[in-house]
Amino acid sequence: MGDTDAVRGWVRDARHIAVLTGAGMSAESGVPTFRDAQTGLWAHFDPQELATESAFRAHPQRVWDWYAHRRDMIRAVLPNAGHAALAAFARQHPGRQTLITQNVDGLHQRAGNTDALALHGSIAEDRWLDVPRACCRLDALEAGHPPRCPVCGNLRRPAVVWFGENLPADALEAAEHAARHCDLMLVVGTSGEVYPAAGLAFTAHQSGARVVIVNPEPTPLDAVAETCLRETAAVCLPVLLG
Ligand code: OAD
Repeated sequence: MGDTDAVRGWVRDARHIAVLTGAGMSAESGVPTFRDAQTGLWAHFDPQELATESAFRAHPQRVWDWYAHRRDMIRAVLPNAGHAALAAFARQHPGRQTLITQNVDGLHQRAGNTDALALHGSIAEDRWLDVPRACCRLDALEAGHPPRCPVCGNLRRPAVVWFGENLPADALEAAEHAARHCDLMLVVGTSGEVYPAAGLAFTAHQSGARVVIVNPEPTPLDAVAETCLRETAAVCLPVLLG
C-alpha cells in the first residue's frame, strides 16, 4: 500500500487530527513563500529590514507600504484546493480537526476554516503600536503611511507577529493542547524553521501522535515524521482528506 493510501487510512481512523500549515499551503494560490529561493521574499529583503518592531519604529512608512503591497497581492488571490479540502473536512467531521496556521494571509479562513488558530496573526488587521490612550480612537485617525492618532502620534501597525514578539497566548495554548491530544498531525508547507510553531510537530510526536509531512522538500521536522509525502498541498490534501 502506498504511503498516501496509508495516510488516508490514518485520517479515516483518527479521533482528532491537528493540521499545522505554513507558507507552502498558499504557494498554489500564487502567494510567494518566505524561503523558497526562486520566489522567496527573503531574497528581496533582510528580515531585520521590515519584519521587526525596531524596523517599523525606524522606518514606519517603508514597513507599512511593504505590508500594504502584500495586502493588495493577497486580496487578489483565492484559496486553493488544499485550503478547500481542509475546510470541507472540518465541516464534514465537526470537532475532529484543529487547524493551526503560521500564515497571515487569511486564506484558510476565507476557505471556511473560520476557527483556524492564527499563530502569527493576520495581515488584514491593524493594531496600535503603543498601548492606546483615550485619545487613540479608530474613528479619528490621521490618514497616512501608517495612519496615526492625531493627538499623541501613536501609530497603527499590521496585526502580525514580528520577529522577537510573543505569539497570541490563547492561539498558542490551543495549538499546544491540540498537538498533545491529537492522534495524527499533518504538517503542510512549512520549512519548520520558526519556533514555537515548528515545535508543535515534536510535541505531537512526543505525545504519541503520528506525524505526516506534506512538502516537496525535506525539512528538519522530517526527523519525527512517520512518513513524508513529497507532494504539494493543493494536490495532496484533496486526496488525503477526500
Ligand atoms: P517558508 O517559506 O519558510 O517554507 C515554505 C515551505 O513550503 C518550504 O519548506 C517549501 O518546500 C514548502 N512548499 C513550497 N511550495 C509548496 C506547496 N505547493 N505545497 C507544499 N509545500 C510547499 O514558510 P514557513 O515555514 O511558513 O513568520 O515560514 C514560517 C514563518 O517564517 C512564517 O510564518 C513567518 C516567517 O518568519 C512570521 O511572519 C512571524
